[in-house]
Amino acid sequence: MIILAFPDYLSQARRLAARLDVALAEVALHHFPDGESLVRLPPSLPEHVIICRSLNQPNDKLIELLLCATTARELGGKRLTLVAPYLSYMRQDIANRPGEAVSQRIVGKWLAELFDDVLTVDPHLHRISSLTQAIPIKNAISLTAANEIGIFLKQQFNHALLLGPDRESEQWVSAIASNIGFDYAIADKHRLGDRQVEMRLPDRVFCKQPVILIDDMASTGRTLAKAAGLLQAAGSRDIYAVVTHALFCDDAYRHILQAGVKAIWTTDSIDHPSSCIKLDCLLANALKAIA
Ligand code: R5P
Repeated sequence: MIILAFPDYLSQARRLAARLDVALAEVALHHFPDGESLVRLPPSLPEHVIICRSLNQPNDKLIELLLCATTARELGGKRLTLVAPYLSYMRQDIANRPGEAVSQRIVGKWLAELFDDVLTVDPHLHRISSLTQAIPIKNAISLTAANEIGIFLKQQFNHALLLGPDRESEQWVSAIASNIGFDYAIADKHRLGDRQVEMRLPDRVFCKQPVILIDDMASTGRTLAKAAGLLQAAGSRDIYAVVTHALFCDDAYRHILQAGVKAIWTTDSIDHPSSCIKLDCLLANALKAIA
């Protein structure tokens, strides 16, 4: 078995390889001036190859993944496992308007053709309940970081109110809350555009204890910033945020902090200065279970 890590996931893959006690090699990348990618793997590979890369900023990464997986098979890989803690293109699960590509179905089918196993963490599944419905292979495995996040929060706070910004977040917020015995509430959000959201807080007292915003991802940061603004208006002065996937596009991170969030903590599904919640134990256990 070998772990092949793309450069943007190298430090996390090293932790995973150490935990599993398996060899690791870096996938060498070169980007030509015209934007094409050159992908280079070790010249011969064992039967089981685990390819690690989170698929944020996905368009170039997906092409490089195709080149990598196809070459890995040519070089001796018989079983290919993808570890993509952040899996992109999972949000568009229906055509909202006639003619729109249903990217979840298309990307999912394509990954199913390339890989024998796909592992990811808290994918943004909306209208489907199982990842195998999006990626039609037996080992399409959706893990949750709820336990890791809960352990981290328990180390920081004796008590706090967890707040999910929208109905979709309830699955993660409720799991974390029940793991650690904290109370939780869910706000009501409507997205008006990429960078514009409307929100209504639930009818709760927010000024008596720390409030921790919980979401699966922060992209533009507008969701968390809006929630923080409303919480401040409701008297809360102790606001924090935990996000599984630190997408943080453009000014998102700064924008959330400027909105009044005292600290943002994220998992290392994507490398970021805020990534203090490590996922290697979760991923290693899942890989051992399917080995
Ligand atoms: C949406 O349902 C997700 O759970 C996140 O709330 C959303 O993607 C965050 O996006 P943004 O940071 O751009 O508001």
